[in-house]
Amino acid sequence: ETEKKIDELLSKMTIEEKVGQTVQYSSLWELTGPMPNGESEKVLYEKIVSGKVGSLINITGTEAVRKAQELAINESRLGIPLIFGYDVIHGFKTMFPIPLAEASSFDPEVAKRSAEVAAEEAAAAGLNWTFAPMVDISRDARWGRVMEGAGEDTYLGAKFAYARVKGFQGDDLSSRKTVAATAKHFAAYGFSESGRDYNAVDISHSTLHNVVLPPFKACVDAGVATFMNSFNTIGGEPSTKNSYLQRDLLKGEWEFDGFIVSDWNSIGELQYQGVAGSPAEAAQQAIVAGSDMDMEGNCYSTSLGDLINQKKVNEELLDEAVRRILRVKFALGLFDDPFKYCDAAYEKETVYAEKFRKDALNAALKSIVLLKNEDQILPLNAQLDQVMLTGALAIDKDSPIGNWRAQAIPKSAVSLLEGMKEVQNNLTYVQGPDYVRNDSLTFLSLLDINETDRTGIKEAVKAAKKAKVVVIAMGENCFQSGEARSQSEIGFKGLQLELFEEIYKVNKNIVVVLMNGRPLDLTPIQDKAKAIVETWFLGTESGNAIAQVLYGEYNPSGKLPVSMPRGIGQLPIYYNKTNTGRPTNEDVIFTSRYTDIKSSPLYPFGYGLSYTTYDYKDLKLSSSKMIEEGNLEVSVKVTNTGKVAGEEIVQLYIRDKVASLARPLKELKRFEKITLKPEESKTIKFTLTKEDLAFYTSNNLWETEDGVFDIWVGPHSDEGLHATFEYVSNNVNQ
Ligand code: IFM
Repeated sequence: ETEKKIDELLSKMTIEEKVGQTVQYSSLWELTGPMPNGESEKVLYEKIVSGKVGSLINITGTEAVRKAQELAINESRLGIPLIFGYDVIHGFKTMFPIPLAEASSFDPEVAKRSAEVAAEEAAAAGLNWTFAPMVDISRDARWGRVMEGAGEDTYLGAKFAYARVKGFQGDDLSSRKTVAATAKHFAAYGFSESGRDYNAVDISHSTLHNVVLPPFKACVDAGVATFMNSFNTIGGEPSTKNSYLQRDLLKGEWEFDGFIVSDWNSIGELQYQGVAGSPAEAAQQAIVAGSDMDMEGNCYSTSLGDLINQKKVNEELLDEAVRRILRVKFALGLFDDPFKYCDAAYEKETVYAEKFRKDALNAALKSIVLLKNEDQILPLNAQLDQVMLTGALAIDKDSPIGNWRAQAIPKSAVSLLEGMKEVQNNLTYVQGPDYVRNDSLTFLSLLDINETDRTGIKEAVKAAKKAKVVVIAMGENCFQSGEARSQSEIGFKGLQLELFEEIYKVNKNIVVVLMNGRPLDLTPIQDKAKAIVETWFLGTESGNAIAQVLYGEYNPSGKLPVSMPRGIGQLPIYYNKTNTGRPTNEDVIFTSRYTDIKSSPLYPFGYGLSYTTYDYKDLKLSSSKMIEEGNLEVSVKVTNTGKVAGEEIVQLYIRDKVASLARPLKELKRFEKITLKPEESKTIKFTLTKEDLAFYTSNNLWETEDGVFDIWVGPHSDEGLHATFEYVSNNVNQ
């Protein structure tokens, strides 16, 4: 039915109009203001009216969207609706934890709900399309965009990718509560060399298929409407002109029927990457490789028509791109009612609605990871403990919102101080040094942070002497992470460590509350802080959530979706590495290790404490052999051995001991979050199938190879009950 309508439309379109559908511009004028009079604004206005624009990015609000849509509908020849895209990454106005934080919940439902709310608000504000989720696997904390993904693990990443797509899109793209999602960045952007953004990528075929691609495939399985390609090259081939990835794999093998948008000017950048000599050449390469829409690259708009007229590009390729774009517009219901997302009254009652706050709080609570809690210094007792709070991040109402903040109101998060005061009014607060409150939106350079004023430190030390417990908020300003925010160091900037050290001299009861968008080097505080609470950037409800954890109203349950390194020199670091011929042994010289630092991370993937303790026992396998079409049932008994109720994330890892390629030392294959009352036990059951044991082999196939597998079930990647089993295919049986 839809395809017929598309055929009809295509048959009426001129080449220029077809090209128009593949063009996306950023809004150049304030659409809610007067009509354009500047030169460039006028040009864009005329382009929409003459059908030369398919999509706009960075326009929000029903009034603005309606105005632009009216130009396309009422004034262009065919009245094809525009699709409005925007980066709605972790909330639209009600802000949720950054995606890395949400991955710490190990609870895909949390990410799904957060995406649902973001979609509901964004759609109410006139938008149809978000450039999320980012499903790039990342192993290098120097890369600023670590904050936008689900961390270092492919299995966890795929589960979160799937959940986020479902959350944004629901089951009905035409609903007024959903938006089209984008799986980005296709592919391997998270592997940019030395963690420097936009840098070249050089990874193996095996890493591409086994590590990078599965979360993208999960997005396709969830029915994602669009993909975005990536800025990087892989082995010299820019993703934007990578025909294998876009055509053979995504649109071919995976049967993806939506469209691929380029990243911002990534088609134009083919020239800088040295593979195209002109915008026309760039356009030709990109369309041939399957990039359907040009985001702000001005290559399709200027060259595609000519290329077709000169028979340098087959018109069928353009038709296919347009068909894909129109398909998504139809699915969104834009042809039935192009103004369905433009209801100002609905926008007013939906965006930033009070009802979403409980979802934001729930997500924030579940994203917090307790890393250390010596002497059970936490939870604090609001009645008995004389608590002093310090650190500029503690009163920061902006950083907890995180980068990629869509329409968040600046400084609208509940600060840590506000949250703690709700519970303990007699709290003392002394700010300390000022750096992290830098309000700059750009953070172009951190080199000029040159604090010399130590007055704040002196005041904080004075107050710390009188306190029973000192809570120090430390970490990063949120604009230190995000796009183009790579760093060569991942330590605490400014005078933060000095503040910590000076306080330590007078008070040993230190609780560090971390706020950060990437793993940080925690070694300078590791032994001295009694408690370390990782909160990432938690969004609107940040301070309330952290306070609930600090005072024990909520028992922390998050686990690390990334390894915490011992220092920058360990990067890239990740738990699921392959073995070497000289397995790491810290006591033996000629093994794979460092001579100045341990090889293990400071905190491993999957790690996180609780205010209670859990005991794992009775790991049982249904059989010591898994025969090809049979499943393997795995069970374990987990008991809450402490005094308070809690949630535990039970994790199952495997290792393929002998395979045709070196396989990871451990791979996460299942996880489940359970709730246990004190002394309560639960038996958790997992079912493994042949597919769980498979990997992408040199035969270019997902294959499960016969042989022995290790299996562990436990609280994190470095601890668990162990067993082995053998996989036997029918081939061997016969
Ligand atoms: O969606 C983003 C992308 O992740 C990075 N470059 C810009 C795009 C649009 O804002």
